[in-house]
Amino acid sequence: MVQWLQCNDEADLEVLRKRADAVRSAQVGDDVHLRGLVELSNICARDCLYCGIRAGNASVARYRMSREEVVACARLAVDFGFGTLVLQAGEDPGLTGAVVADLIKAIKQETDLAITLSLGERDLEDLTAWRQAGADRYLLRFETSNRELFRYIHPPRVGQPERDRIEHLGLLRSLGYEVGSGVMIGIPGQSYDDLAQDIELFKGLGLDMIGVGPYIPHQDTPLGKSGGVPLLGVEQQVPNTLVMGLKVVALTRITCPQVNIPSTTALATLDRQTGREQGLNWGANIIMPNLTPVQYRRMYEIYPSKAASTETAEQSRDTALRQIVGLGRVPGRGRGDSKHFQTLNSFKNN
Ligand code: 5AD
Repeated sequence: MVQWLQCNDEADLEVLRKRADAVRSAQVGDDVHLRGLVELSNICARDCLYCGIRAGNASVARYRMSREEVVACARLAVDFGFGTLVLQAGEDPGLTGAVVADLIKAIKQETDLAITLSLGERDLEDLTAWRQAGADRYLLRFETSNRELFRYIHPPRVGQPERDRIEHLGLLRSLGYEVGSGVMIGIPGQSYDDLAQDIELFKGLGLDMIGVGPYIPHQDTPLGKSGGVPLLGVEQQVPNTLVMGLKVVALTRITCPQVNIPSTTALATLDRQTGREQGLNWGANIIMPNLTPVQYRRMYEIYPSKAASTETAEQSRDTALRQIVGLGRVPGRGRGDSKHFQTLNSFKNN
């Protein structure tokens, strides 16, 4: 794994890409599923050293979308033919268990959309209530399997016990969610060994969805201001480049053949022309077009120059469809549930 991660020979990398693309085609097919992304609040109680919407960043204007605004996004997702709505936010104390449960019920009452939550580390009570209200999936990246590095870039909430994200993922699974996770690539202090461990852990956790993207420094964060952890030597430090991201997508596909892998916005941000398509060519099978109302887009700046931060929902959809068709792939129909999840459960039931 480390050798592949360190490989820079173009011909060898083309072998890796082709292999990942073949596994993708054989295991999850040519469908590219579209998940409508709604960034419903940028309010966050946490102070992650890498993230632009961290509580300590006073230069961000904060917003929380109303119930009606979110439901309108859900209607848009249905109009666009998407099968899934992803509700993502910071750890916003105003998004209480009851508020989110109510939102889930409202969307489920009106639509057949699958609902994916990405709302951070929440307690058992909330996660249980949301599952009961009808939420289908949960995304929580573990960011890095290097515990020391994770603790450094992701300090615990003041006055609250530290939560172990790996245990948290097990909890989500036990509640019956399809579970997604992932990492950032090229965090200062992240070694090739760490990254190889991350990919091994993807497999060990039996994830249904895996999202990865290069770390992009944000100038209003401690890590982005170069005051962060020192980089390792060139022999060890993982670079936060597009090609590194693509290698990780390919190795993830080969290691976890049936998982759903998005071609992430971070990849598209590093190369606006081709990043998204390259992700799809290196093993990814999911795109998450942004449905967040345009007036909020710029405020959800987890990293700078985020791709698609000014385009409308219609433009996001049109771009995605054009890219899918251009690659000879097929826009997915229906919810696009995880094959991995289905395989797992058919074993359990037999
Ligand atoms: N660069 C790249 N990805 C980031 N994320 C947060 N901040 C950054 C950044 N500066 C990613 C994290 C998080 C996801 C929602 O966005 O992996 O889990």
